[in-house]
Amino acid sequence: MPEQPPSILSETYLQISPNILESFPRFRPPVDLYLYDEAVGRVGLTHRAGARLGNEAQARVAAHAEAGRLFLLRDDYLIYAEHLSRKLGLVLVEDGLRPQEVAEIFFLAFRDRVAGFYDQPKKEPLARLRDDLSILAEYVWADPCRVEFLTGTLHKDYDLAVHAVNSMFIGLALYAMLSDEKMTRLSLVGLSLGLILHDLGMTNVPRFITDKEQYLVRRDRESIRKHVEAGLRKLDRLGVGEPVVRQCLEEHHERLDGSGYPRGIRGDAISLPGRLCAVADSFSAMIGRRPYRDATMLEQAAATLVHDVERYDRRLTGLLAVLIAEGIPSCRAHDAADEGASSPEGGDS
Ligand SMILES: [Fe+2]
Ligand SMILES: [Fe+2]
Repeated sequence: MPEQPPSILSETYLQISPNILESFPRFRPPVDLYLYDEAVGRVGLTHRAGARLGNEAQARVAAHAEAGRLFLLRDDYLIYAEHLSRKLGLVLVEDGLRPQEVAEIFFLAFRDRVAGFYDQPKKEPLARLRDDLSILAEYVWADPCRVEFLTGTLHKDYDLAVHAVNSMFIGLALYAMLSDEKMTRLSLVGLSLGLILHDLGMTNVPRFITDKEQYLVRRDRESIRKHVEAGLRKLDRLGVGEPVVRQCLEEHHERLDGSGYPRGIRGDAISLPGRLCAVADSFSAMIGRRPYRDATMLEQAAATLVHDVERYDRRLTGLLAVLIAEGIPSCRAHDAADEGASSPEGGDS
């Protein structure tokens, strides 16, 4: 059983488990490695990032990881997060990671996965994306309150991949609030896939339109409208059959008053996933910084949707406003109970 280092260590350092060490390139770990010396109660540098580790040194380092004495600086977290984002399954077995850190790892991972899939919309990258979405689903299913941390990572720098991930995180949070902890892993995977792929057809729109630095003219908007059908055709070619994915792609631009596209359907004719994807997509579009306009503040974007009762589902926009203003209420109750159970000086949150 590995020794537990003093808790103060966890503020500055993050423990490297044998699992994670194994996932590093064997001869050249990508981060500085630190060793906790029990005799003096201090942590010291034992290996510089990128320097070569010989066979003997590798065995020594592995033994330290096994004994729970190997650490990295939390300041090196981003290098580590990028590394972990390529081996996403590790976040399910690592307990030294804070939920904020896991959320950032998920963000990096899905931004890369979806960008890779958009570059090459084939079955193999789609299968990889699905595998990683199953990991996210498992993580969220085990504790739905974790979606709050996902929404803490929303990025303002707009591109198609960031927009896709922001939409997915917001949509999952709305779903968690809506279903009041009665989610299934399978429904989480389907909805996540729909949310992250909702603009799949945008890869057919020429870059000179999507990257335009001015407001779009009518002809550009008409071109963009075709992304819905283009996305559905791609889903068919890829053999994606889940209705929820299709509804998300097909209906995210439909509006309750019939003013949306491509079909101009209204009210209950728009499915719940379609309405949820519409709210998540519109919110995510507003909070992104574009060359021709600033990013809208989160509260402002939520308020705009709340007031647009003609076009957006008011139950969903109401949940969005609560989420942005105060987080998920049932999770606050949950946190308060946890705090009550811990010692008064245990201020680690
Ligand atoms: Fe769209
Ligand atoms: Fe979108």
